[in-house]
Amino acid sequence: MKPLPMKKFFVDPSIGRAESLPSSAFVDSEFLELELGTIFAQTWLLTPCENVPEDGPATSIDSLARSNSRVPFNLLGKPFFLQRGKHGRLNCFPNVCTHAWHPLVESSSVGGAIICPQHGRQFDNDGKFVAQAGFEKIDGFPRESDHLRSVHVDEWGQWAFVSTSEPLAPFHDFIETVQQSVPGIELASLRRYHFNGEVREVEGNWKQHAWNYMDNFHIKFVHKGPGGLADAIVLASYRTELYKFSALQWAYARDEKNGFDPQLLADRFRDPKNPTRRVFALWWFVFPNITLNFYPWGLSVNVYMPIPGKPDKTLFLWFQYALDEQKFQRRNSTWLSEQVDAEDIEAIGLVSIGAKSGFAPRGRFAPNEETGPHWFHRLVYQTVFEHRTTQ
Ligand code: FES
Ligand SMILES: [Fe+2]
Repeated sequence: MKPLPMKKFFVDPSIGRAESLPSSAFVDSEFLELELGTIFAQTWLLTPCENVPEDGPATSIDSLARSNSRVPFNLLGKPFFLQRGKHGRLNCFPNVCTHAWHPLVESSSVGGAIICPQHGRQFDNDGKFVAQAGFEKIDGFPRESDHLRSVHVDEWGQWAFVSTSEPLAPFHDFIETVQQSVPGIELASLRRYHFNGEVREVEGNWKQHAWNYMDNFHIKFVHKGPGGLADAIVLASYRTELYKFSALQWAYARDEKNGFDPQLLADRFRDPKNPTRRVFALWWFVFPNITLNFYPWGLSVNVYMPIPGKPDKTLFLWFQYALDEQKFQRRNSTWLSEQVDAEDIEAIGLVSIGAKSGFAPRGRFAPNEETGPHWFHRLVYQTVFEHRTTQ
């Protein structure tokens, strides 16, 4: 029997009235398809992602440092390549020849014209058709569709982000709040460390991971003391700041020596009444699926990638960057990085069973404790059903 079309639902802007997204939004393939065509086409996604080999050197923006360098990557099952142009400008194109759809760039390389391996069609670094033997005397050729289509791309720190269709807003609007919070951290110089298990398929829809991330209500339960995150921070100082496309959670460290050097962060993170207080971490969420977790030791970048066709699973990307090498060695013992991730992943696995059970009603939000989850559910609803009409 053909499944019924996904029923439109509503997430109320008032937290006191709102109900959570329905469980079907976490388990239906049809809803995931809808999200891939809306949320994941109109926002900025970190590249490269799912094709990062676990043990090999990750394809990174570093390999695009030279002009004319290019790097192929897959995003949500679709092929693209990044191309550094002559004047340093980064371009992104679908890795699909406009003649008969063969991939154009098969491995990272540096070169002049892009030449398709299938029948030799050539493109310049801006993706314009240049020549192809056999196509000299054709009327109305080349057409617009014979050139490569440009994909929106932007760079920040050592990362590249793409939006595969018209973005809801420029990349700057997604990232400026993050940038302003860490004026003393030179993002390009953070040192990437590679570990096993940087890319893992985990239980739970991608939104369950994002919802959990935005949820500070669970900290005193799931990450309770002794030895848990709830003990390492001053829980009463915990703050959630909600912006249009990003959200910040942060708290002061219980032990000030485990906090940030205040020079690294914006002045607003100082406590004028208690100047020795130090921030334990800045936990940034960038809609829809990136978290940037700044600690005194460095940065943990997590991405919750949906897996097309598998709505109840997520590809969890987990990349670590050192700011202070000595503190980096203590990221798990002092800052509980792995422990908190493991506790969250376990809890989400259990929630995912509930979501699939057929017994999961739409929940309500505690107005003081769950502003983050409500913000996220509302933004998903708006992006899927209202598109840009609410901008
Ligand atoms: S597919 Fe590229 S030239 Fe034919
Ligand atoms: Fe958590």
